[in-house]
Amino acid sequence: MSIAVLEATQSPASSRPIANEFPAGPAALLVDHATKWFKVDRRKPPVMAVDDVSIRIERGEIYGLLGANGSGKSTFIRLVSGLLTLDAGRVEVFGHDLVREEMAVKRLINRVSVDAAFFKKLSPAENLSFAARLYGLDAGEARRKAALIMARLGIGEKRMGRPVEQMSRGMQQKVAIARAILTSPTLLLLDEPTTGLDPRSKLDVQSFVEELRADHEATIVLTTHDLAEADRLCGRIGILAGGRLTAEETPERLKTRVAFEYGLPPTLESAFMQYTGRSLDDDVEEGEAEPAE
Ligand SMILES: Nc1ncnc2c1ncn2[C@@H]1O[C@H](COP(=O)(O)OP(=O)(O)OP(=O)(O)O)[C@@H](O)[C@H]1O
Ligand SMILES: [Mg+2]
Repeated sequence: MSIAVLEATQSPASSRPIANEFPAGPAALLVDHATKWFKVDRRKPPVMAVDDVSIRIERGEIYGLLGANGSGKSTFIRLVSGLLTLDAGRVEVFGHDLVREEMAVKRLINRVSVDAAFFKKLSPAENLSFAARLYGLDAGEARRKAALIMARLGIGEKRMGRPVEQMSRGMQQKVAIARAILTSPTLLLLDEPTTGLDPRSKLDVQSFVEELRADHEATIVLTTHDLAEADRLCGRIGILAGGRLTAEETPERLKTRVAFEYGLPPTLESAFMQYTGRSLDDDVEEGEAEPAE
């Protein structure tokens, strides 16, 4: 990976699709001045988790959201998936308004999370047939497709019958992704899909994400703390800092820009430091319960 990153750093900015090369029609995801705040302490102002963010993502894009801990990435994903309600602004998925056309949007979105309790109690097979029923897929067709997807992700048939909670986190991640893929998501929201995976599983998931985009024209929004991953996968990267979008470019342009404008090395790491104003290890989380001193 490190060699690939080094090469990417030095390559010209021409190898990736840029925003204006995408097809016409409604954006896969249109986020217009989205704002979400959390009031945790009456005596303090609310935490602006997502602060006036506007993003347009075209069909077939892989869009990466970067940012320090607590910068609003997961809140953004939850807003777009309809798990949280907007305090201001609006979200459209393929031209459908998230609030007014909730059912249409839910069918077009898949959010991958391994944290849902019901998900863990079921076996992979049960999970997949549940998802298939929910989305009105034919059972036989769904089973065939599920077996193919699981094989592609390296999960053998033996594992298909036992509860997901008995699997390792990496395996759970794969089942969650398989479940999302099975329902032919048009917009796939992945919140840290590769965090905690071993290097091989990580590569599996990364190549699978690329495959989905290439073969199924899926649009993918993912968050990650892995800059090499963002560089490899994402056509464009948005950087969040304190809930605000501070930069949005192709990886190559981000690198060129920090080099030109700030005299920093042309790397995504420099861009991250510049546009978050902090280092990767800093934690800007606020407002959550902290142990009393
Ligand atoms: N349910 C909640 N109640 C109160 N505050 C919240 C809640 N969810 C998130 N926040 C706050 O909103 C801000 C953004 O959090 P969020 O989880 O979106 O960050 P993140 O970028 O996903 O961080 P990480 O990289 O650690 O996953 C933080 O200050 C967090 O404490
Ligand atoms: Mg998060």
